[in-house]
Amino acid sequence: MRRCAVARVRLPQTVPSPTAVTRASGRRNHSVHAQQQKKTPLTQSQPLQASDTFFNAQNAPKPPVRPDPYKLVAPQLQQLRETLLDLLGSSHPSLTEIAKYYFLHPSKQLRPLLVLLFSQATNGLGGGWHLKKWAAECEGAGGRTEELDRPLTRPDVLNDWNPSMPDHTASFQASFSLRPPRPPHQSPSPPPFPPPGIPTVASPLALLPTQIRLAQIVEMIHVASLLHDDVVDKSPLRRGAASAPAAFGNKLSVLAGDFLLGRTSAALSRLGENEVVELIASVIANLVEGEIMQLKSVHAEELGIAGLSPSVGQENWNIYLQKTYLKTASLMAKGARAAVVLGGCKEGEIWKEVAYAYGRNLGIAFQLVDDILDYEAGDATLGKPGGADLQLGLATGPALFAWEEHPEMGPLIKRKFEQPGDVELARDLVRRSSGVERTRELARAHADKAREVLSVLPDSEAKGALEALTERVVKRTS
Ligand code: FPP
Ligand code: MG
Repeated sequence: MRRCAVARVRLPQTVPSPTAVTRASGRRNHSVHAQQQKKTPLTQSQPLQASDTFFNAQNAPKPPVRPDPYKLVAPQLQQLRETLLDLLGSSHPSLTEIAKYYFLHPSKQLRPLLVLLFSQATNGLGGGWHLKKWAAECEGAGGRTEELDRPLTRPDVLNDWNPSMPDHTASFQASFSLRPPRPPHQSPSPPPFPPPGIPTVASPLALLPTQIRLAQIVEMIHVASLLHDDVVDKSPLRRGAASAPAAFGNKLSVLAGDFLLGRTSAALSRLGENEVVELIASVIANLVEGEIMQLKSVHAEELGIAGLSPSVGQENWNIYLQKTYLKTASLMAKGARAAVVLGGCKEGEIWKEVAYAYGRNLGIAFQLVDDILDYEAGDATLGKPGGADLQLGLATGPALFAWEEHPEMGPLIKRKFEQPGDVELARDLVRRSSGVERTRELARAHADKAREVLSVLPDSEAKGALEALTERVVKRTS
């Protein structure tokens, strides 16, 4: 009989609310971080903190050496980057060019990284792993790379006319005549039972082709959202180069984003897992919802929609964190969860809950740090001038915390930093407050929570890399 994972699991506690992040956060030992450390029992997989080693630093055990997250799956990341461009061909060369544009500049590839690491950390554990592994190996079962590249529908129905593929597309020079149906596909029979024994993490590295394709899909959705975002934000630069709207114009940028979403939808359906289609489709809706929330907070009047009225307190934070989840963390959380589903995690098993909780907390931490970096000198590699959010009228974590200490921030936030000198004054108020420290502390609390939920997983290199990632996300400087 399979061992029941749920029964053995002790679920971790929740992240404290932002208003519980105290002003003297960095100086008092009752900060969120300190409380978090007190509450969290040390497990084998958690590093010892400075406070734990204070009295006997020399004899203290060294923190575990964790694999570099990017190095652990570097060949797979490289491979998926190269083959991704094959998914973007079209019979319209200008569309192909702009759709590929953002993939030609190096990116962090954080979303695909999460998909690959979670796949590696949980493959072998789910009750349906043996079926997924079989489908990835057995010809005709639908899980091999060649099969993921093959259309489910007849090619001349699926693809629009392309003169370089006359056998796979239908010309418009004649009306379309009835074609004979294809013979039905005979699927091989899957093995009836899982092999006996306790499920363990698959070793050595066992990423399924469906999981690699999912990693490409999440990156494509991310890029589609950036193509749209750079139109909305009127950004002249992205990653140090001309943004797509600056290079190709707004209309083509929006259309290229839509084209990417079309290609991801077809690729998603070939993964053969309805739950994954549902998860990823809901991410696309979330991205739009997050963007609308952000627009509402600034441009409600000109858009003719009901706005949000900022007021100090929890409600403000709820809106900001919800927007952060929708805009950034949802893709990480649901992408990681989808990876675990593709690895055969069944309903009632804890593994996909771990993936979601980790991705959600890590994603929020990532965006909070992004919002801090926006206050710092500016990021040449991202092509972001410092204070870009304020210029867009957005009050993010540092400004919201600063408002609690400097009431003068309130009117600036309410008028979206519109008047001359508002942006400079707001930056100064943030500098004279503990807003940046407190935002980083809130990011740290979310990252700690992400690391804590991993304790449910069996030890593996991928788990160590996911732990290391929580540290990197908080400490990153670009
Ligand atoms: C970057 O945020 C933008 C996003 C994370 C999401 C944008 C989403 C949309 C425009 C909705 C449309 C979505 C799809 C999938 C078509 P940012 O402006 O804070 O970061 P940046 O500084 O990198 O631009
Ligand atoms: Mg933007």
